[in-house]
Amino acid sequence: MTTPMTDIEPKITTSNLNLYYGAKQALHNITMSIPRNHVTALIGPSGCGKSTYLRTLNRMNDLIDSVRIEGDVFLEGTNIYGPDVDVVQLRKKIGMIFQKSNPFPKSIFDNVAYGPRINGIKDKRQLEEIVERSLKRAALWDEVKDDLHKSGLAISGGQQQRLCIARAVAVDPEVLLMDEPASALDPISTAKIEELMYELKSQYTIVVVTHNMQQAARVSDFTAFFYMGELIEYDLTKTIFTTPGKKQTEDYITGRFG
Ligand SMILES: Nc1ncnc2c1ncn2[C@@H]1O[C@H](COP(=O)(O)OP(=O)(O)OP(=O)(O)O)[C@@H](O)[C@H]1O
Ligand SMILES: [Mg+2]
Repeated sequence: MTTPMTDIEPKITTSNLNLYYGAKQALHNITMSIPRNHVTALIGPSGCGKSTYLRTLNRMNDLIDSVRIEGDVFLEGTNIYGPDVDVVQLRKKIGMIFQKSNPFPKSIFDNVAYGPRINGIKDKRQLEEIVERSLKRAALWDEVKDDLHKSGLAISGGQQQRLCIARAVAVDPEVLLMDEPASALDPISTAKIEELMYELKSQYTIVVVTHNMQQAARVSDFTAFFYMGELIEYDLTKTIFTTPGKKQTEDYITGRFG
């Protein structure tokens, strides 16, 4: 159950992970490996701990005071909760895309150049190259190439979400965490984000939270079903959606609860 039957190398492994918000335990003993260069979907009813689990993978829960974590999270053998870990460097390697797109109130160009500039890149030509490459990777370049100085807030919701993906990939992350990245988007924009996940996985390891069962079935290679803070079942997406091993998984994917 901890790793689906596969010989793909894990990119991230969590081991006996428990998370508490104050006295309330939100994650129970989560042990799972996330395969490199694939898409892993996290599914389960509202409140089951999907976002909480996703945030443990780049230490975003550190920002919440009441949180206490037990257990380990390894990024290729390095414990990301170890004493020597630089959280800023870690989040550079593990980027995050949220449900609500959140471009900075800056130009499209400056949104994408933001991370590289913080990393010390000043050369204009080099920044231009990074911006173009990142916008192309996010399948947004053709739509905005003549408008790079327009505000990142003055484009459509679907374009804003792809801009956030471009901003995330501009710093060359290894992992992309996506928390319901398409749930606020129309079907065409959603299809674009889904295509993008398919293309990006050749370069990145992607973990995506989704409430949309069809989306999980379409975009992911592996699916983890969470329920009340526990990892109930984790397997190849094909298996989860055709022959799930647990009744709770079957009830959820067939819409009987959640
Ligand atoms: N900042 C917080 N402080 C206290 N409790 C929290 C906090 N964030 C989440 N929780 C609680 O932890 C549990 C898991 O929440 P989480 O947001 O991870 O669920 P989720 O599966 O992402 O749900 P949804 O599908 O609604 O986004 C819930 O009971 C929630 O109320
Ligand atoms: Mg959530």
